[in-house]
Amino acid sequence: MRILSKFSNYRIWDMTKTKRVLSGIQPSATPTLGNYLGALKFWVEDQDEADCYYLIVDLHAITVDQSPEVLKEHTLNLAALLLAIGIDTKRSTLFIQSQVPEHAQLGWLMESTVTFGELSRMTQFKEKGKGSNTTRASLFTYPALMAADILLYQTTHVPVGEDQKQHLELARDLALRFNNRYGDTFKVPEPEIPKVGARIMDLQDPLRKMSKSSKAASGNIYLTDTADSVSRKIKRAVTDAENKVYFDPGNPQKAGVNNLLTIFGALTGDDPRDIAERYSGYGALKDDLANALVDTLNPIRSRIVELRSDDTSLIALLREGSAKAQAIASKTLRNAKEAMGLIS
Ligand code: AMP
Ligand code: TRP
Repeated sequence: MRILSKFSNYRIWDMTKTKRVLSGIQPSATPTLGNYLGALKFWVEDQDEADCYYLIVDLHAITVDQSPEVLKEHTLNLAALLLAIGIDTKRSTLFIQSQVPEHAQLGWLMESTVTFGELSRMTQFKEKGKGSNTTRASLFTYPALMAADILLYQTTHVPVGEDQKQHLELARDLALRFNNRYGDTFKVPEPEIPKVGARIMDLQDPLRKMSKSSKAASGNIYLTDTADSVSRKIKRAVTDAENKVYFDPGNPQKAGVNNLLTIFGALTGDDPRDIAERYSGYGALKDDLANALVDTLNPIRSRIVELRSDDTSLIALLREGSAKAQAIASKTLRNAKEAMGLIS
């Protein structure tokens, strides 16, 4: 049974789906293959079985310096990219975090739930900002805002890559703490971390994670890379002198080959070990992987160009998503405020 609002033509609650998925991505640079295989691919798949909320987390992006013009461009490019990979706004709610003020408001309640000690233990903060006087306060409190993103929608599942696991565990702890202290208010969300692809590594430095904020473009495959660029980067990807294809996760000597096999496996759904058995040298493995990547990325690139040719429609679509999201978020925020003793 599907209940529709009397006053509008969008869905407000889909009673047929008990799984509610939410995830977010920063509009900080062009997404990489790591983003796709670690998270975005599952965003698309989850739409078949869940009520999905996907947000472009622009408030998270400004925890470090951003040029306003570039931030706008990245936000629209990212929206086009999410639609191009298959996020379907008839089935899912796609929106911009800053357009739903409830995120910042519940973020404050979460900052008043989390402790200084907990935030200090976040490895991402330790890597990105600890020890510098110019680090923005929001980079430190960022996991509280992320918890708010998730808890506002009574989310049951959060598809993310391995690097977000600690933030998600904190969101779970905060939901439990709030519920225990102020009464049942939030669902406690489960992480969805892929078995293959949770951590795609840099092609030039396979001991480091592929990251869209990395300066060296040659180690990253961007989802908008041309066929030539993808083939070139895969051909130049670091391997080792052994020229034997086998999957040996955890062995730093084989980190490059492991990464190529992981990418291939995550892309095709095959086990990296089975893929390894099909190859006797690195050349053929790289050729086939490059072709598989080009087949996936080419249609995405042309669809992005098409969508960006009409920004007015793109922005209207995002506003519609934000309005849908706000209808849910405002109820949760009201409950949370009342539970805490704030008069609404
Ligand atoms: P971000 O780029 O930090 O906005 O991340 C967006 C999503 O992509 C998050 O769920 C991350 O966990 C995931 N992700 C980012 N980089 C990688 C990577 N190298 N391998 C797998 N997943 C990743
Ligand atoms: N912190 C996440 C990242 O950098 C992005 C994010 C923000 C997110 N809010 C979220 C992911 C809520 C999942 C759920 O990748």
